[in-house]
Amino acid sequence: KSRKPIVIANWKLNGGFDLLCSSVASFVKKSFLAEVYICPPYLYIRDLLHFLQYSVVNIGSQNVSKYQSGAYTGETSAQMLAEAGCKLCLIGHSERRSMFRENNASCQIKLKRAFENNLMPVLCIGENLEEKNAGITKDILSRQINESFEALDIADNSFCIAYEPVWAIGTGQAATPETAQEVHAYIREQLVSLFGQDKAQQIRILYGGSVTKLNTTELLTQPDIDGLLVGGASLDAEHFMSICQQVD
Ligand code: G3H
Repeated sequence: KSRKPIVIANWKLNGGFDLLCSSVASFVKKSFLAEVYICPPYLYIRDLLHFLQYSVVNIGSQNVSKYQSGAYTGETSAQMLAEAGCKLCLIGHSERRSMFRENNASCQIKLKRAFENNLMPVLCIGENLEEKNAGITKDILSRQINESFEALDIADNSFCIAYEPVWAIGTGQAATPETAQEVHAYIREQLVSLFGQDKAQQIRILYGGSVTKLNTTELLTQPDIDGLLVGGASLDAEHFMSICQQVD
């Protein structure tokens, strides 16, 4: 594949100094063929950046505010994240959509904020079980993609898409590599319509949902799966490391 593989750990609201220390111990002085990112809770971003400064691991955020500054208690802006040293931010994770009322319109604003501040956005999309059973997966994905990017000028910006079927998140029931590939190919078709063939071929599409070291290789060998977004399995530093090491 011409696209560089990318592996992202999303700690969600987990972890603490123990995980921070074990991650530092595992990742310092290691090199990988993939780009590797850890997205810890905001509070640990600076610590991880400091301790991993001589490693190849980059730090990302799990979210970003749609606001730039002002009276928005509890928010963290894209500019602050970029200044802190984050290179990437997740946008529209299904947990944010289902529990914090995020939608395609708010994702669009967040994408804009990320681009303005040179944070590489990873737009998370995916259908839930009800939508899957109703056979409307493609409609849902197409809306998520089109409504998030419409009216955005992204000519020179790089970004990723993470396909995370909601029914696969934290359930131990990952999509099969074949199903994931079929959906990723569909997502790339959507990207071709929006951005043209050349650009669409450069955009990395990640799979997320019950990824472990046991299904990593099979998923990553699919032609349109360019990386992985790992939740639960990233909370064990050695497990996450073994996922990163399988990329070749
Ligand atoms: O962002 C990560 C995903 O939500 C996947 O979580 O690996 O625990 O299923 P999981």
